Amino acid sequence: MANAYAGAPVRPRMLKYRMPDIKILPEDLINKIAAGEVIERPASVVKELIENSLDAGAGRIRVDISRAGKKLICVSDNGRGMDREDAVMAFERHATSKISSEDDLFNIKTNGFRGEALSSIASVSKISLSTTSHGIAGTRLEIVGRRILSIQDSSVPGTTIAVSELFYNTPARLKFLKSDSTENSHITEAVTSAALANAFAGFDLKIDGRELFCLPPATDIIERISQIFGMELAEDICSADLRGIGMDLRVFAGSPSSARNTRAVQYVFVNGRPVKDQTVSYAVYKAYEGLIPKEKHPVFFVFVDISPQKVDFNVHPAKREVRFSDKSLVFNHVKKAVKNALSNICTGDVQQYNSCQDSNTVHLPAESLDQILYTESEAAVQTTISDTQQDYTGSTGIPCLYLGGTFVAVRHTEGLMIIDYHAAHERINYERFLNSRLFESVSLLFPAQVQLRPSEYSILINNLDLLKEFGFDVEDFGSNTIIVRSYPDMLSVGDFGTLMSDVASCIYESDNTLGRGEINMLSDVKKRLAARLACHSSIRGRSEAPDSFRIAKLLQDLKVTENPECCPHGRPTTHIVSIADMNKIFKR
Ligand SMILES: Nc1ncnc2c1ncn2[C@@H]1O[C@H](COP(=O)(O)OP(=O)(O)OP(=O)(O)O)[C@@H](O)[C@H]1O
Ligand SMILES: [Mg+2]
Repeated sequence: MANAYAGAPVRPRMLKYRMPDIKILPEDLINKIAAGEVIERPASVVKELIENSLDAGAGRIRVDISRAGKKLICVSDNGRGMDREDAVMAFERHATSKISSEDDLFNIKTNGFRGEALSSIASVSKISLSTTSHGIAGTRLEIVGRRILSIQDSSVPGTTIAVSELFYNTPARLKFLKSDSTENSHITEAVTSAALANAFAGFDLKIDGRELFCLPPATDIIERISQIFGMELAEDICSADLRGIGMDLRVFAGSPSSARNTRAVQYVFVNGRPVKDQTVSYAVYKAYEGLIPKEKHPVFFVFVDISPQKVDFNVHPAKREVRFSDKSLVFNHVKKAVKNALSNICTGDVQQYNSCQDSNTVHLPAESLDQILYTESEAAVQTTISDTQQDYTGSTGIPCLYLGGTFVAVRHTEGLMIIDYHAAHERINYERFLNSRLFESVSLLFPAQVQLRPSEYSILINNLDLLKEFGFDVEDFGSNTIIVRSYPDMLSVGDFGTLMSDVASCIYESDNTLGRGEINMLSDVKKRLAARLACHSSIRGRSEAPDSFRIAKLLQDLKVTENPECCPHGRPTTHIVSIADMNKIFKR
């Protein structure tokens, strides 16, 4: 049968949508695509270069960064180095000295194995390599976009790789990088993880000439934790070992009281490789269940050593994840090991937290706050409670019951209203922080010296002006330490360490959520900071019981907030148990 379309003119629209011919991409483009998977940001370069140094047996690694790694990343080591032939070969794709057969792929004992890191870095940057292998003349190479421009002699011991102008030929990638302080914090985190995984090696990190780390080789992990996070945290950690169970486990778990508002101090290492692993993390959280409040995050360092046959490292382009052949075995053992560690701390009277969410929670509209019932003697208060201008200080309070260190019960037209005192206070303070144009500062008579995690330190010192806007006067003291001279007057600060670490994580989260330089970044930071600061300034559970006057004032203040139903983290502030509910409970 003749083709009905034969001779018909091709419509321009069809031409427009015609699929292009399939072709093999040019080598240069293939390399850039491959590099995109391995080298996501400057911290990826730092991670890959450090891993190479460790694989080369280095005992001391020095990292120098300039302009968040966009200008320069230089990693020097005292490892075994390379001869000239290897140095030239190292930048080829799939060039590795670490594996040679498929069997090796399931028996990986080194950090690297794919032979693609150096070639990926070289395709998106300019590299200078100096390397000397024991007893042989050294080599210096200059490489631009994977092309070797010059080969010379060198006498630098070990290996030094200087990566400059990262992403110079992939401007889109450069554009997607976050602010310098966020990129610096990722770099610091990469060095921190490597330093924790390799306590016996020394690490130095300098960012823009400022020394962030100078870690001499440590004798054990606790010493390394102490070098990085300070003595206080190291002393608050309990450890446990579990061996001969198909894997060796070493866990270092923070006491429940050291739990944080963020997941910032949580590290998992599998065969010495820093990874993110849901199974391990979930097991740790399960072990802490009931010991810390639901919104808190434990501090932990978990080291899993497992036969390479039982774990696949080849599942993530940047090797950030692993796949265990038996997840439940890992889960059960990690949970057990953390419980063992915690049992060394939690022997006495430990506060228990209910881990299950109250499913019966009702979110209240603002009007419900007007329906609180008062006895005749409180008639005066009842009339004023709807008067939003009224200041309750010194006025009559409302009868209330203080329950469980956190809750307050008052009468309500529908029955009983239970108030989460902390959540309600947090909502009020949150909106105050948010709406405040100018933060008044309180100067400290004795300025507080605060040692932070290196990545937090790097964020804060890069945002001193922003901190000023919130009423903090903070000064750089070097060695991951800041001096807090003044703080916003709305805060009731107990622990400057926790406070400043929270402030750093807000700035970091905001920068990570929004694009660099977005106009609403400032307001986003403000919102996050307001929520954290509100939490710090709000009355905690188990504090002194608030009296009836404070309850009256609290309810009034809560009523005039924009969103009285929940605290800034979404937890309800109030809950009504109606007479109908009670009838049901008592089967009436
Ligand atoms: N600092 C160093 N000291 C000595 N040799 C090095 C160093 N860095 C790289 N090499 C050599 O260069 C080779 C290529 O390094 P590259 O990082 O590209 O691949 P890899 O480490 O083998 O695998 P991966 O891509 O998984 O990291 C390594 O196998 C190693 O032999
Ligand atoms: Mg490598």
